[in-house]
Amino acid sequence: MQIRCRQFVVQDKKIGLVPTMGFLHDGHLSLVKTARLYADIVVATIFVNPAQFAPHEDFDRYPRDEKGDLAKLKMAGADIVFIPRVQDIYPPDFQTSVTVDKITGILEGISRPGHFKGVTTIVAKLFNIIRPDLAVFGMKDFQQATVLKKMVNDLDYPIKMIIASTVREKDGLAMSSRNKYFNPDQRKKAVCLHHALVSAKKMVKNDKISNPKLLKNRMIQIIKDICPTANIDYIAFTDPVTLAAMKQIKPGCICSLAVRLYKVRLIDNMKLL
Ligand code: PAF
Repeated sequence: MQIRCRQFVVQDKKIGLVPTMGFLHDGHLSLVKTARLYADIVVATIFVNPAQFAPHEDFDRYPRDEKGDLAKLKMAGADIVFIPRVQDIYPPDFQTSVTVDKITGILEGISRPGHFKGVTTIVAKLFNIIRPDLAVFGMKDFQQATVLKKMVNDLDYPIKMIIASTVREKDGLAMSSRNKYFNPDQRKKAVCLHHALVSAKKMVKNDKISNPKLLKNRMIQIIKDICPTANIDYIAFTDPVTLAAMKQIKPGCICSLAVRLYKVRLIDNMKLL
């Protein structure tokens, strides 16, 4: 893969990278289409990265569909698909990792210790193997995008980071490979995250509410009304770059939340102002 990509560099071709864990939906395909707009060669990767799953998480049952993914990637315009094996990426004596400090210790980092270390390490490795000019990630994983941008900046990777908008189902549920875990009734209720976010945005825009506590209480109420058994992990109002909690909603504020519904942990976010 490294040799192949070096050849494109020699030919002065711009490489765009879209890292994925497979089981692709329209959200992933929009990342590929975005890369297609800016790059001569689009490389997509499929790798369910064990290092970013905690032992109790869903690594083993994470959905996989390599054949379907390859067909979808071809349709969306990928030129190359890199599907390494776990032993290619993490040989038995593997012992190096990349970590971003402060901003990984909050939000997702609290519920998923070690998760971002796994993400930054695999993405750094993919950057080193493929040496892309640009890389596209989804806004749905807002903290991941922020952490990866920090890594690129701090480690001087000459890579343009493009963060593509979240693609949603008709009812507003953010597309995610994990939506597949729901039965039809549960799936209907999963829209509660989106409803809560939209209502927070309306309260900020129309009712000029700038107190995060008020917004949070209303969001909890909406989620519980739709799905009383929902377990809310966090609802946060943060600066988009530093991820510092906002005491008052200011322009740029991102509201993000994580909710456990029927053993499935969903995340979503929205720019409030
Ligand atoms: O967002 C994902 O699917 C994964 O975290 C990524 C960026 C492909 C790294 O494994």
